[in-house]
Amino acid sequence: MKELKIESTLYVYDNLNELDKDVISLMHKASEARDNAYAPYSKFNVGAALLLDNGEVITGSNQENASYPSGLCAERTAIYYSGAKYPKAKILKMAIIAGSTKSQTTEPIPPCGACRQSIAEYEVKQDLPIEIFFMGEVGKVVKSNSLANLLPLVFDKSAL
Ligand code: THU
Repeated sequence: MKELKIESTLYVYDNLNELDKDVISLMHKASEARDNAYAPYSKFNVGAALLLDNGEVITGSNQENASYPSGLCAERTAIYYSGAKYPKAKILKMAIIAGSTKSQTTEPIPPCGACRQSIAEYEVKQDLPIEIFFMGEVGKVVKSNSLANLLPLVFDKSAL
């Protein structure tokens, strides 16, 4: 038996203003996208914004459905749209902002497991780390230098 220890490094900022201007602006775009969330069932609104290497910003919000599993998270709405519209562009950064309309969300909200798997596909495909920033409606922001930090032992094309 051999013990396998897995470590991830994340950076926690006290508030958004501690980050670079381009990240602040990307988070604001994610916040605007969040206004278009369609979440009548969970009342949990999420916005995501991607900065591409061609300068474009792609945004998405969660879109729910009366048939619950048919809905889609903000991160996947954005990343699939990015892949569909700019298949050759590389994704440099992703900003995510999330919170319930029932009470203010002050803690950073990381992307769900399914979104991590979907983001991993693009990070592997483009062979360039995607910087990920996530926050609640206010307060701390977490930065990950790569999706790999959020999803160790990723399942990817190397297994197929
Ligand atoms: N949601 C996202 O948009 N992204 C995540 O990473 C976590 C969850 C959405 C899905 C659903 O519409 C609502 O938040 C509650 O789960």
